[in-house]
Amino acid sequence: MSEVKTIAIIGSGQMGGGIAQIAAVAGINVIVYDTFPAALEKCKAVQKKSLSKLVEKGKLAQADMDAAVGRIKMVGTLEELKGADWVVEAIVEDAKVKKDLFAKLAAMFPQEHVVLASNTSSISITEIATAAGAGASRVVGMHFFNPVPLMQLVEVIPGIQTSKDVVERTIALSTRMGKTPLKANDRAGFISNRVLMPMINEAFYAWMEGVAEPEAIDGIMKLGCNFPMGPLRLADYIGLDTCVNIMNVLAEGLNNDRYRACPMLKQLVSAGRLGDKTGRGVYEYPAR
Ligand code: CAA
Ligand code: NAD
Repeated sequence: MSEVKTIAIIGSGQMGGGIAQIAAVAGINVIVYDTFPAALEKCKAVQKKSLSKLVEKGKLAQADMDAAVGRIKMVGTLEELKGADWVVEAIVEDAKVKKDLFAKLAAMFPQEHVVLASNTSSISITEIATAAGAGASRVVGMHFFNPVPLMQLVEVIPGIQTSKDVVERTIALSTRMGKTPLKANDRAGFISNRVLMPMINEAFYAWMEGVAEPEAIDGIMKLGCNFPMGPLRLADYIGLDTCVNIMNVLAEGLNNDRYRACPMLKQLVSAGRLGDKTGRGVYEYPAR
C-alpha cells in the first residue's frame, strides 16, 4: 500500500486543528474542513501559536514550521476534500451527526484504499461504521489526545467490521505522526474515557455535594496524585459539552446509570459554560 500523501480532517476545533498540525509537521498534505468559517480562522491562529511555541522551545526548526503551515489548506465545502487518501473525522461527539457524515464520506470516497477514521472519544466504531455501508471495513477509531501536539498516545479502535489491514495502517500512520499507538476494543469509552471520565464526573459530584470547592478538589488531585491538571480543570480543557456527551455514551453503551452525567456538569453546559473554548466553565479564562 502506498504511503499516505493527503489527509482530510473534518472539524477544525481543538482536536481537528491539532491533528492537522502534527500531520503537516510529519510531511503530509492536509485539507481541513469545518462547517463554520470562523472555526477555520481560529484553527489557523491556534496552530500558529502552537507551532511558534515549539520553535521557541527548540523542538521544531522555523523552516519546518513554515513548511508545515504551507501543507495545510482550509476549505469551506466537503467536496473540496476529494483526492485525500485518508480521512480523520473530529466533529461534535454525537452519534447521529457522525453517522450522517460517514454515510456521505463512504459515497465521496468509494476507493478501497481510503481509510475513514474517527477521533470519537467514546462512540462505538462498529455503530459509526454501519453508516458507511460497504465501506464499513475501512472505518476505524483513531483517538488522539488533547493537546494533540504534546500528548503521546493514539488509541486505535477496530470496529467488528474493520479489516486487519486498516488497523495495521492506522498503527503505521500514528507512528509516522510521531505518536505511540495502543489498541483497545470497541466498547463505549474504549479504555481512556471509560476510566478517565467517571473520575471527572465524580469530581463534579464532590463539588455539588460541597465536599470541597473546585480549587481544593483540583489541588488535592494535583498534589496528592501528581496529576498535571486537576479533574475539574481538565474537564474545562476537554470541553464540558464533550464530557456530558461522553458520559451519555457510557451510560447508554454500558447499560448502567452509574455513568449518568452529574447534574452540576449538565447545568454548566445548559448555561453555555463549556470551558476554555467559551471562556468560562468551572473556572473563568480571560481572553488572551
Ligand atoms: N502546543 C505547543 N505547546 C503547548 C501546547 C500546544 N498545544 N499546549 C501547551 N504548550 C506548552 C505551553 O505553552 C508551555 O510552554 P512554556 O513551558 O514555555 O510555558 C508548556 O507546553 C507547558 O504547559 P503549561 O505550563 O501550560 O502547563 P503544563 O506543564 O501543565 O503542560 C499540559 C500542559 C501538557 C497540557 C499538561 O497540563 C497536561 O498534560 N495536562 C493533562 C492533559 C490531559 O490529560 N489530556 C488528555 C485529555 S482527555 C482526552 O484528550 C481524550 C478525550 O477523548 C476527552
Ligand atoms: P470542538 O468543539 O473544539 O470542535 C468541533 C468542530 O467540529 C467545531 O469547529 C465545529 O464547527 C465542527 N463541526 C461540527 N459539526 C460538523 C460537521 N457536521 N461538519 C464539519 N464540521 C463540523 O470539539 P473537539 O474537542 O475538537 O472534539 C472533536 C471530537 O474529538 C469529538 O468527537 C470529541 O469527543 C473528540 N475528542 C475530544 C477531545 C478533547 O479533549 N476535547 C479529545 C479526544 C477526542
